Amino acid sequence: MKCLATGIVLPLLLMVGCSKPPESTTPTAAVPAAPSAEVQKGAIQIGKSIAAETFSLLSSNLQAAIQQGGVSNALPFCSLAASPLTAGMAGKHGVTIRRMTHKSRNPADRADTTELAILNHFAAALTGTNPPPPLVTNLTSSTATFFAPIILNNELCLKCHGEPGKDISAENVAIIQRLYPQDDATGFKLGQLRGAWRIDIPVATLPRTP
Ligand code: HEC
Repeated sequence: MKCLATGIVLPLLLMVGCSKPPESTTPTAAVPAAPSAEVQKGAIQIGKSIAAETFSLLSSNLQAAIQQGGVSNALPFCSLAASPLTAGMAGKHGVTIRRMTHKSRNPADRADTTELAILNHFAAALTGTNPPPPLVTNLTSSTATFFAPIILNNELCLKCHGEPGKDISAENVAIIQRLYPQDDATGFKLGQLRGAWRIDIPVATLPRTP
């Protein structure tokens, strides 16, 4: 893995070490301001629950596909199913849900400048095995945007996001290349930041504290 230790990225690299991405991203935006405590509290509550529900839906589908035909069957399955499953969950809750990352498999999941600032914040806050807490920003006044880190914390993830030829079999490397010619989502190690959930919640729908 390359370390582009230049300019503003250097202090972050010194803190998190070269093995932890994002290491090649120069943040040009700061983490946006946080909304009121009440909005934050409501958005954290809703965001956490929707992220957990979506994770469990994706994860049970992934495991079923692996059981049916191994990782080589699950790869094309995930490719087809991940977006509609996530969109269905978003529709059910009246929010938008996105998984975004500094190293994407699906190019649609590539982080924008603001999202990269959030990922850098999470990478810097990732110490030991504790995931950094989620955060909430007001990107627009009517929306509370919830972000929670996705840590690669399961051996299974390495079968499709670990080291090609070692964690990922040659057969599966070929499938990934065919489905995602621009894939950048390999080379991860256990404990690293894989990306983050982003859930945009209309402020008007947030629970209010009495
Ligand atoms: C069977 C292979 C497979 C396994 C196992 C797997 N993934 Fe993925 N992952 C994929 C594919 C394929 C995509 C792209 C889905 C799409 O096109 O929307 C993806 C996308 C993602 C994304 C969205 C960002 C991006 O790069 O597009 C995240 C985050 C992610 N995976 C995390 C994980 C984590 C965490 C685990 C372990 C719990 C895991 N994955 C296990 C195949 C896998």
